[in-house]
Amino acid sequence: MLEKLQKIFKRGGLKGSPFGGLGSFFTDWHCHILPGVDDGLPTMADALEVLATYEKMGITRVWLTPHIMEDIPNTTAGLRERFAELHAAYSGQVTLNLAAENMLDNLFEERLAARDLLTIGERGDHLLVETSYFNPPMDLHGALDRIKAAGYYPLLAHPERYTYMDEKDYKDLIARGVKFQLNFPSLGGFYGGTAQKKSRWLLKQGFYTVAGSDLHRPHTLDRLSPLPPTIPNEL
Ligand SMILES: [Fe+2]
Repeated sequence: MLEKLQKIFKRGGLKGSPFGGLGSFFTDWHCHILPGVDDGLPTMADALEVLATYEKMGITRVWLTPHIMEDIPNTTAGLRERFAELHAAYSGQVTLNLAAENMLDNLFEERLAARDLLTIGERGDHLLVETSYFNPPMDLHGALDRIKAAGYYPLLAHPERYTYMDEKDYKDLIARGVKFQLNFPSLGGFYGGTAQKKSRWLLKQGFYTVAGSDLHRPHTLDRLSPLPPTIPNEL
């Protein structure tokens, strides 16, 4: 894997910071770097290599957002334990934070009712959530309302990737107080033309609050692009 990363460097893909003028103030708000817990990086060695590359890219803070869903029923305790192992193994400069990418399914409803959650953001009051790419959950608005009633702000992961959402849906969600997280690779068309078109429209509307890599594999590092200035990238 290290060779792959070195090749990316040699191609010039990561010359200095790929995030333009952001220098050392870049935060990745969504990634699957916590190793061996979901469909992301498999080993601790992989995670350490990617973090070393992040450091060279000028990324100073990373929110680790492993999946929690019925199909990948990670527990908050188990993820905290793995996070502690990564923290102990990593001696670099990137600040590591643990959160989760929560699928809006029945398991999420149980965890929400029990307040058994990993929040995202400094204030501990946001939840990164996702749905199926193709179908909305049974009661999307109800789930979002329950999140807010429980005292959290919903942060919707990669809204541009949901095929069932259109411009009206996005406007409606923004009006309901939902925040949006851009996947960088969407802007470059790596998930296809529709997601790319939607990401450009959402960007133009100023609907994105934060951005992330959604990195699952190191070879996708070269899909990152400069952070568009219209994204505050802070919660
Ligand atoms: Fe993700």
